[in-house]
Amino acid sequence: MNLLTERTQVSPSSTVKENKKHGFIFACTEKSEAKMLSEMVVATNKSYANKLFSVKEGDYIFLYNLDTDTLYGTFTPASEPVFDNNIDLFDGKYPYYMRVKPIGKIHKLSNASNLFKKLGFSWRDILTEYGALLLKSFIEGVSFVKVKSERIVDDTYIPPIFSTTLWDFSYQSYGVTKKGNNKYPGVTPAFIIYNLVWRYTEPGDLVCDPMAGSGTTVDVCMEEKRRVVAFDIVPTRKDIIQADARALPLKDSSVDMIFIDSPYGDNIRYNDHPLNIGHIPATSEKFYDELEKVMQECYRVLKDDKVLAWLIGDQWAKGLFVPVGLKIYERLTKYFQPVDIVCVVRRNQASNTPFWHSKAIQHNFYLRGFKYLIIVKKSKEYKNAKDVRIKWGFYER
Ligand SMILES: C[S@@+](CC[C@H](N)C(=O)[O-])C[C@H]1O[C@@H](n2cnc3c(N)ncnc32)[C@H](O)[C@@H]1O
Repeated sequence: MNLLTERTQVSPSSTVKENKKHGFIFACTEKSEAKMLSEMVVATNKSYANKLFSVKEGDYIFLYNLDTDTLYGTFTPASEPVFDNNIDLFDGKYPYYMRVKPIGKIHKLSNASNLFKKLGFSWRDILTEYGALLLKSFIEGVSFVKVKSERIVDDTYIPPIFSTTLWDFSYQSYGVTKKGNNKYPGVTPAFIIYNLVWRYTEPGDLVCDPMAGSGTTVDVCMEEKRRVVAFDIVPTRKDIIQADARALPLKDSSVDMIFIDSPYGDNIRYNDHPLNIGHIPATSEKFYDELEKVMQECYRVLKDDKVLAWLIGDQWAKGLFVPVGLKIYERLTKYFQPVDIVCVVRRNQASNTPFWHSKAIQHNFYLRGFKYLIIVKKSKEYKNAKDVRIKWGFYER
């Protein structure tokens, strides 16, 4: 039977007014299904925690048993998403959970993967309101027309959580609310902070941004239910505190993660404040000396074993290449233990024009294609890089 055509047509425009709600499918197993249905709860481990925390009041929720290929629905949230590391439910395996309630009768659909395939999405995807209503109608056996122009999946509602060290996402912001101000010079792409927040913190943790600019970190953290404290030498909004990143008004070992997108030299004019480090050129050692003071301050306020992530780009100007990222890495690892380096693809930059592309080839230079996201950890055991004796091995080729 062709599920998509053998139904009488009902116009979706009568049901879909605004494409604001979303649909979420959460997985369970043979083992966890009964508990989820009897306790009216959907729960997950860290892999899908970010998806659970993006569910809002009024959204549509489905439960998918991966072992039996059965879909249950339709539910809607009955609580906010919760993180509880000490929870007994499911032997503590799924500490991120949400209470749900059924919308009417609970329906059940076998061979659900066939339907997912026919509709062209995966249970991991987030559905548009239209997609959710379509799925709801199938599970209830109610007629609903599939309209070609309507999107079923909303792939920009939340960014992906990247599993490799190459991060590429085309938009500065995502979701319904604005993150930061894309008119601010040097605004940080919000997906970077989103990925860090879900990798290295839990809901309720305290995140710090010592150079907060237009407040992208604040907006991401608020939405992901993290506490946040943000500073800038010239605050652009009320929830950013005026402070020099070299002297933060914070207690020692008090924050759970720091994100910093510092100036990359004097290429951008942020403001005229005399203490703005963005007035110092990246060709001068003073630039790194001042940023090293920021690193020392980050080290002081960060809790042990917690992460600092530093976004930085190299510079090519007037025929001179400066490996700013490598120089920052060198300074950072004087204090912190390296965790990893992520290559963040640069998009939407001013030089991304046919004019600059042809100049780069004609005059044999490169436009900046990536930024470094240097991830380091405050570790008591980490030896000062100077103390580490490296034995160099020479091998015959
Ligand atoms: C790349 S921008 C940050 C962008 C920000 N993450 C956003 O999304 O809008 C760098 C910021 O560092 C700030 N800054 C420069 N020197 C500073 C200092 N000494 N203390 C605190 N902030 C400083 C600048 O004012 C600027 O807002």
